[in-house]
Parts: sequence; C-alpha cells; structure tokens
Amino acid sequence: MSLADDVKKRLDIVQVVSEYVDLDTRARTPKARCPFHAENTPSFVVFPESQLWRCFGACATGGDVITFLSRQHKVDFREALRMAATRAGIRDTSPRREERKSSPLIEANEVAQAYLAGVLNSPRGEAARAYLKSRGIVDAAVRRREFGLCPDGLETLAGHLQSKGIQAGVARAAGLVTQTREGAWRDMFVGRLTIAIRDADGRLVGFGARTLSGAEPKYLNSPRSEVFDKSKLLYGLHWARDRVRLTGTVVVVEGYMDVIAAHEREFENVVASMGTAITRDQVEHVKGLAQKVVLALDADAAGQEATLNSLETVWGAYGGASSELGARRQLDIRVARLAGGKDPDEVISQSPDAWRSIVDDAAPLLDWLIDTHVRRNDVSTPAGKARVTEAIFPLVAVLQNTYEQDRYLTALSSKLGVTLEQLRASAGRIRPQRRRGLAVRGNTEASESALTGQADTAIERFLLTMVLSGDDIREYAAELPEEAFSDPGNRAVFTAWQTSGTIGRLRETAPPDLAERIEHLTGNPLPPMDQRARVGAITDSVRRLLELHLKRLKAQEARALEDPAFIEGSPETRTLIEQRSLETNERLKNLYTRQP
Ligand code: CTP
Ligand code: MN
Repeated sequence: MSLADDVKKRLDIVQVVSEYVDLDTRARTPKARCPFHAENTPSFVVFPESQLWRCFGACATGGDVITFLSRQHKVDFREALRMAATRAGIRDTSPRREERKSSPLIEANEVAQAYLAGVLNSPRGEAARAYLKSRGIVDAAVRRREFGLCPDGLETLAGHLQSKGIQAGVARAAGLVTQTREGAWRDMFVGRLTIAIRDADGRLVGFGARTLSGAEPKYLNSPRSEVFDKSKLLYGLHWARDRVRLTGTVVVVEGYMDVIAAHEREFENVVASMGTAITRDQVEHVKGLAQKVVLALDADAAGQEATLNSLETVWGAYGGASSELGARRQLDIRVARLAGGKDPDEVISQSPDAWRSIVDDAAPLLDWLIDTHVRRNDVSTPAGKARVTEAIFPLVAVLQNTYEQDRYLTALSSKLGVTLEQLRASAGRIRPQRRRGLAVRGNTEASESALTGQADTAIERFLLTMVLSGDDIREYAAELPEEAFSDPGNRAVFTAWQTSGTIGRLRETAPPDLAERIEHLTGNPLPPMDQRARVGAITDSVRRLLELHLKRLKAQEARALEDPAFIEGSPETRTLIEQRSLETNERLKNLYTRQP
C-alpha cells in the first residue's frame, strides 16, 4: 500500500474538512460554502463513503483529503501528504526528491505543529483563542494560518517530541527545546502563541512565538539552521505565490500578524520580511514572480538607519537597469506610506479600501530615498546639501536611462534649492564606491561618467597600470598630488607606490587588499609602446588627472562662494576660499601653459 493510501485509510475526510469549513457533520453528504471561491449558496460537498470532496460551483474541482489539504494550505502534493501523514500519526519514510531535500528538522517541526495546534484547540487554549478572537481572527483562520500554543504546565512539547521518537539533537537544532545542564529537555516557547513558518514550497521550516503575557521579547523565533534563515525567507510566500505570479505585484510588510490579516481579507499577494528591512536575498526570492515590489514599512521603521541601508542595497541591485548581461529585469520597487503610526494589520482591519489606496499610491523607491535623506538633513546648510547629494548621487548613477536620471536630479535639485548645474558639478566629486552597502554593478561607471562627463577613474587606472609597468618612468608621475585620484582605492595604490620607492618594494610591503588591487591593475593590457610613447602616455595621464582635479576644486570653491548661507555665515572662511580659488586658477593656468 502506498503512503497516500495508508494515510487516506486512517483519516476521515469529514473530520479533516470540518476543521476548516463550517460543515454539518451529521448530514449524510455534508455541504458547505466552498472555501476555495466566494459564494452564497453551498455547493461544496463531502462524500463520506468515497472519502472525496467536490465543488459543484464556480471552481468545479474536487479530490481527496490530500488534495483538500494541498489546496487549503497552498502547498504541493508532497507537502500535503506529509501534513496528512503527520495527522494520521504515520512517519513519511518514502524516498525524497533530491532537489527539495527534506530534513529531520522539518519533520520535527511538523510533529510539533500537530501538537501545538492541538493544545490551542483544547481547553488549555481558551485564553489564547480569546486573544486571537479579540484581534479579529476567526476559528477557521486559527487553523488555516496554523497557530498553536505551547503549554506552560507539566505537559510539554518536549515530552511530546520525545514520545514521538524525535531525537534530542534534532529537537534542539530545530530550536524547539533546550537542554538543561542536567540533560533535561525544556520547551523554548513556553506559554507562547506559535505561528508556523513555511517556506515558498510549503515546508515547515520554523516558528514565530508571540508572548501572551507581555514578556520580552515579543517574538521568539526558531534559530538559524539548515532550513531556517530569516533573512532569506518571506513569511506567507507559499500562500501568496500564485496571486503574486498572476498580478505581478508583491506587497512586503513586516509582521506575521500583518500577513495573516491581509490574507484573511483576501489581499493575497502580501508577504512579510519578518521584522528586518527587506534584504537582497528576499528580493531575489520574488524576482522571478513579480515585476513590482511594494514595501509597506511601519512608520517607525521608515526613518531608521538600518532600513535606509538595506533599501539602498536593494535599490543598487534591482533599481537600476540591466545587468552586466544586459538581460536582467529591472524591478519596479515602491514604498507605501503608513500614516499615523499604524501597521498594516490595523489599516486592513479598519478599512480595506484605505489599504488598497495606500498600496496603489506607493512612491517609487528612489523618490522615497530622496525624501528620507532630505528629511534627515538640514538642507538649508551647505554641509546638509552636500550630505544629501553624496547619498543620492550614487543611487541615481545606477539608472541607465538618462531621462530618468534627469527626472531624479531635477527633483533633488529643487528639494535642495540648488540649480541642476550646481548639482551636476558637485556630483563629479562623488564616487559610488564610497557609499556603504550600495551594490556597485558593472554599468555604474559608465552611467556615472555619462552624468559627470568624466571618465577619470579610467584614466586613474591607466596611469597606475603604467607606473606599475616599470621603475624607469617613475619620475614622470612621482610628483602628482594624491588628491588627484578621486577613487579611494586607486589613491591608496598610488600613495603606497609613491612611498615605497620601487615596484619591487611595493609588492613586498603591500597589505593583502592592496596587493590584490595591484595584481588587478598590472593585469590590464597596455598597448605596445616604445620608451618615447611610454613617457608621452604617462605625462599625458598625469596632466589630465591634475586638470580634472583642479577643475573639481574650482567648481567646489565656486559653489561655496555662491552659497548664501556661506556668504552670510563666515567672512573669514569666505576670504580663505577666495584666496584658494585664486591659487587653483593659477595652477590651472600653469598646467595649460606648460608644454608637455
Ligand atoms: N519580530 C521578531 N522579534 C521581535 C519582534 C518582532 O522577530 N522581538 C518580527 C516578527 O516577524 C514580527 C515583525 O518583526 O511579525 C514585526 O514586528 P511587530 O510589528 O512588532 O509584530 P506584529 O506581527 O505586528 O505583531 P503584533 O501585531 O501581534 O504586535
Ligand atoms: Mn502588529
């Protein structure tokens, strides 16, 4: 007998279905309103004799107890079979498919879930059920969303796991129990309301356990393990997957309860990042399914540094245009604003329409990033303007479409109260590589130089490759000031070369990261050149870098002198800058008049 047959023989379809659907279990052929489509008259029928179910209404589907669980929990057949087997008290020992490895941890979780759900449903669970009810979660949803309760009396989950033959090491690795020094098992989630966490394939990979007594922390989650990694999972994706694929849009909220509230009110494309700001790994997960990602951030999370960091990383990776291969789809990433400190759960419960319009009105991520940086800085001061520019510029640089770049730069310039020209000039001094956390991609350099009209980092690299090609041309570059290098990495190589005297010594003394750069640079091919051509090339590049450096200085000084805050603020500084500006002019003039 196959496992499926065995499971079906032991389960009663009427009993299983009645846990989810309001079924009159005494009728000979119990009927109910179909759980899989909205209807007013019952057309969902269960046949106790054949142990089958069928909807005679709009969805016109049917099947056995396993397909029922599969549809109800939106998991595939294998997973539904495993759920059914656990219910029937049978261990699934059939060989596993290679690509979707199961794990003893998942089996332990399944055994735990069956038990935790049972406790919640028992008299001991009354207070917890009342709590859920007070939050608008109906009985069917308690089962559908796989809540549970970890007992706090003498009977324990640990004891249950032990009785079911789950090994101590497995239960511990799954984070269900800890072991005391004396070797006794203790429950991790004592007295907490548990929420089963499944991955996109429906595998039960972990739990979130909410306090019911106000104890800290509010949630205890399964520890990181071979099957559970919060930063890579999106809670609710197995429920949302079909809907996301169909609509091309996924809405990412923060909390378990937000996802549950959304799905219970038929907003079925909602998933949760589980408290952290969304990560690249999580985006990667939905990239194949959705073209549009709407991030619904809690109001308090929105301004936080960590949120900002990870959203910038996500923007760097997915906000720009095509990748190195030119084929990667760009994602439309938006941020929905939740006003008044409400979280999605509250908004959805109070007014589904309000939720709908919040999601529809979500702003493009880069607009949101600009606004957030502007809000975090005092943009009436030059320093504030500079900080915002420095933060935003690399984010604009990842866009390949120059019209889009223009749109964002125009928006930024008006928010900073500077002209587009001033903004572009200052942009020339900023390198994307400097920004923490921003994923720098292959096209960044090209679009950046398109923005600034400068290809100076390419010249920097060429010059470094030249000086590393032989000590004989050293003298032609040794006098160049290090500030002429705008890229910090290039500058580091240059100063190390300047101080080390010979290429040989440089190689001996360079720390590993620098050594790597040096290797990389010497790997760049140079055209075949005789000695005269080499000297010509190196002096040309030195001149060109110096010129770019002086021009940047000049633009910077000019901007400072134009800035009203600067002029009124400090006459001394102004004089100083005026003087510096004259010197810069002089240096530029010398550069132009000196013959190569
Ligand atoms: N979270 C967590 N650990 C905590 C607090 C929060 O893992 N100590 C995660 C959970 O995934 C939680 C999410 O962050 O769902 C959002 O936190 P919060 O908004 O506080 O939780 P809600 O799900 O909204 O829970 P509730 O509405 O019951 O307060
Ligand atoms: Mn909440």
